[in-house]
Amino acid sequence: MATVIATINLKGGVGKSTTTAALAEFMSAEFGYRVLVVDLDPQTNLTTMMIGEQRWREVNDRGLTLNNLFASALDTDLPEFDVEKALQRNASALESVRSVDLLASSLDLMETQEEMNAWQYEVPGSLEPLLVLRAALAGIKSSYDFVLIDCAPNLGIVTANGLLMSDAYLVPTIPDVLSTYGIPQLQKRVQKFVDHTGHELTPLGLIITKYRSSSTLHRTTIERLQRAVFEFDSAAEKDRAGRQRPPNVIPHWIPESNQIAQSAEFVDYGTLRQKYGTHGQFEALRNMTEHVVQNAGVYL
Ligand SMILES: Nc1ncnc2c1ncn2[C@@H]1O[C@H](COP(=O)(O)OP(=O)(O)O)[C@@H](O)[C@H]1O
Ligand SMILES: [Mg+2]
Repeated sequence: MATVIATINLKGGVGKSTTTAALAEFMSAEFGYRVLVVDLDPQTNLTTMMIGEQRWREVNDRGLTLNNLFASALDTDLPEFDVEKALQRNASALESVRSVDLLASSLDLMETQEEMNAWQYEVPGSLEPLLVLRAALAGIKSSYDFVLIDCAPNLGIVTANGLLMSDAYLVPTIPDVLSTYGIPQLQKRVQKFVDHTGHELTPLGLIITKYRSSSTLHRTTIERLQRAVFEFDSAAEKDRAGRQRPPNVIPHWIPESNQIAQSAEFVDYGTLRQKYGTHGQFEALRNMTEHVVQNAGVYL
């Protein structure tokens, strides 16, 4: 059965989509896993990274994006969403990545997302609006080892659909003050979600993105994040009561690099090394992926 991992952060621009795409490509090309990538963000960055803008337009025009899933859940007069048809098989442009499929997002999801949020208030207390994605994927999930869900930077109903079918979550963050400021808030909101739904989620940790080794701020921020975990773990039980354990810091930082920034462009680079770069980027991404795979295996 697939392990489902959501990437979330309430902040945009922290490398969520870039990291999710890289994780999927490394899981496939380096470790041989079958991966489904689910793009829940109406910004559709992950989708265009994987299949390019032209193919996205075709998919969108044919009604084969996740927008059509949520729209048909809201309006039963619309044609039913056919997940098998919507699957973009072998979605990566890289030749060496052979087992990554995609469920595409759409800019139209921006509006549908608002309607999903409104639906929740029409049926107070019901989990039905949160179960749309899970129900749609029930029949195909077992074809994958991992399902990676890239979420929009909010915790609305569409994101909640992603969380409700996830076993675990990852939080990509840039190691600076502004980017890490909201992490305790995010953890609290996830805990509230868990309390509300009764659905447990394992925190797999923070992925440090856009790391600059020359930046003192980046280094001191990572030290602060690591120290918070250590201090929590070594605190007396009475001092921990009512506090959440800060998230682990995955010990393989993703460097800031032009090549990773350019990986957002839809081009066939051939290999992962050519695409992501050989000045430490390939190794960092490979090690990060291996760590995530191992921890998913340990905790789930
Ligand atoms: N390691 C990195 N080095 C350089 N640029 C990066 C890196 N990771 C992401 N970026 C760039 O930062 C921007 C935001 O990344 P993105 O993955 O879209 O963030 P999010 O999904 O959190 O909004 C994009 O332009 C992306 O290409
Ligand atoms: Mg994104």
